[in-house]
Amino acid sequence: MRLRYVKDADKKISAYPQYILNISRHEHFILNNAFKEEKPLHIEIGTGKGQFIHTKAKQYPDINFIGIEKFNSAIIKALDKVLVEPRKNLYLVRMDAEQLEDCLQSDSVDTIYLNFSDPWPKLRHEKRRLTHPDFLKMYKTVLIPNGTIILKTDNRQFFEYSVMAFHQAQFEFETLSLNFHEDNDPKNIMTEYEEKFSKNGPIYQIKVRYQEEK
Ligand SMILES: C[S@@+](CC[C@H](N)C(=O)[O-])C[C@H]1O[C@@H](n2cnc3c(N)ncnc32)[C@H](O)[C@@H]1O
Repeated sequence: MRLRYVKDADKKISAYPQYILNISRHEHFILNNAFKEEKPLHIEIGTGKGQFIHTKAKQYPDINFIGIEKFNSAIIKALDKVLVEPRKNLYLVRMDAEQLEDCLQSDSVDTIYLNFSDPWPKLRHEKRRLTHPDFLKMYKTVLIPNGTIILKTDNRQFFEYSVMAFHQAQFEFETLSLNFHEDNDPKNIMTEYEEKFSKNGPIYQIKVRYQEEK
């Protein structure tokens, strides 16, 4: 995704604390408290411009959603969607997913969505991949027992890497699709990236669960 510098993005983010929060490095904040009503919690990591999570929150009013995005130039577009159509069950957060464990209670997230995560193909950038073992360890901490991760990608290499990483981290595979759009899932919500790039080839999808060993 090409990101352009957006003038005054920080100012705009801080003007709407009811919809969005900017969490800087080393800052601790319990995001579970962002909602007035307690409901199951789903989070998207790398929300980008927010089409997926904004639509999802409309379709599932009985679930609370958090969209997490590292760059304010992207998340500001998600904020624009919320300003046009506010959602009580959606909160946006500008932060790096590395801070996840500091900002979410353990055993509190039902589902994590990883939609078209940056593949970071070079080995020296492996740690930045959102399915790197260090991230999977954090996801295990914040997920409820038997919680789910659902990943979509158009990148075969990143898909294969993620399959191996989930397997090695002892996640249980529920579905694994090599051509997700052919499956015609009526519940699929297209992300901005998916709309733009799915013409070029198949979309891979993985759904895994983590059953905590007690
Ligand atoms: C290719 S874009 C996909 C955006 C959106 N999910 C979609 O499908 O349209 C990947 C997004 O993940 C974000 N991202 C990558 N690493 C991240 C991290 N460590 N924490 C939060 N966001 C991250 C990027 O900034 C980018 O906006």
